[in-house]
Amino acid sequence: MASPPPPSSGPASPAPAAATTPAAATTTTTTSSPAAAGSPPAAASAPAADPSSPQPEQSNVQVEVDDVDPDDHDDADSALGDDVQSSTASISSSILKFREENGRTYHAFRDGKYFFPNDEKENERLDLQHHVWLVSLEGRLGYAPPCEIDAPPGRVLDLGTGTGIWAIDFADEHPQSTVIGIDLSPTQPSFVPPNVHFQIDDMDEPEWTFSEPFDYIHLRLMTGSIADWTELFKKIYKNLAPGGWVEVQELGIPRCDDGTFHEGLAIHKAVSLLGAGLEAVGRPLVDVYKLKDYMKDAGFPEVKEKHGYWPSNSWPKDPKLKEIGTWANSSLSTGFEGFLLALSTRDMGWTPAEVQVLSAQARADMNNRRIHTYWPVVCAYAQKPLNP
Ligand SMILES: C[S@@+](CC[C@H](N)C(=O)[O-])C[C@H]1O[C@@H](n2cnc3c(N)ncnc32)[C@H](O)[C@@H]1O
Repeated sequence: MASPPPPSSGPASPAPAAATTPAAATTTTTTSSPAAAGSPPAAASAPAADPSSPQPEQSNVQVEVDDVDPDDHDDADSALGDDVQSSTASISSSILKFREENGRTYHAFRDGKYFFPNDEKENERLDLQHHVWLVSLEGRLGYAPPCEIDAPPGRVLDLGTGTGIWAIDFADEHPQSTVIGIDLSPTQPSFVPPNVHFQIDDMDEPEWTFSEPFDYIHLRLMTGSIADWTELFKKIYKNLAPGGWVEVQELGIPRCDDGTFHEGLAIHKAVSLLGAGLEAVGRPLVDVYKLKDYMKDAGFPEVKEKHGYWPSNSWPKDPKLKEIGTWANSSLSTGFEGFLLALSTRDMGWTPAEVQVLSAQARADMNNRRIHTYWPVVCAYAQKPLNP
């Protein structure tokens, strides 16, 4: 995964935008010590989600910025990404009566729990985002051993599967495995490999009732959907077979090392509004550098991590980061309206028109190659002991 250099030992400081980072190098860290001893400060400020707050050591990125054409204000979106048909065949009608609001639709099962839409526009964005993950993980679906192509078959659970695209790819790559994807929305396609099954379910249920334990439990992009990560990892631990693996893949709060991403920008305001809204509903954006601590607190003795990041557009000079940034721009810049509409119009007093204006401005900032924002990426994975 294209990643920043290893964490420095001193406090993070703004880095000059001139040094280079190896393009596709991967930073791996392993921790088996009690939580937090050598871990970065919780400086991404997840609770307040303030992108201007101090930043953890891992974020001391030094990426060479590419030249900008004077007329260049826009990384045009890619048109990639196929529609996915919704699976509606066997689903009770109440689950299909999506909440309609401001031209978007939202899940009906456990109405109001999750704030991003579940319509075609959002699903296309999620599928495009899957591609960004593939590019940044160099074609892998994950780093835990069950993702190896020749891994022994097993039972796999994908929590918050969305359009199911990760689960379908995993099932294709591992035809002898059984893959279950669960979500609040029935937005997965009908035509899927025979070894993948989707269920409408709420992962917040205090006890999961799966018939058998899993060999691999995966979750991706669930930041903003989880109230208590340690409790979630405890449930995952309980539902893993001995020797089974968990892997979480997350984006952190966007940041910048050279001051070009600042409070005056719409993108900064949009990110702060999102963070404040999720905080208010008790499902804050997670500090991705704390995920390993939550896993250890839940009982996983050793956690491995890979760090990387997604630039906001093609601003880095390095070709690999430029590619990741181009794709990330396509999937994230189109998302702001969906991220913000329900959260800020339901409880925070915003009008839909105000959200649309801010989202359009934030998108323009995303496309501005003079603003050097990036999203930290963390993949953390751990094994339940063979003899727990
Ligand atoms: C940002 S999407 C990520 C989808 C998918 N993991 C991916 O990487 O493409 C978050 C997904 O989590 C689902 N979700 C949120 N809270 C949930 C819950 N309590 N139980 C089940 N699914 C949930 C949402 O419906 C949504 O599809």
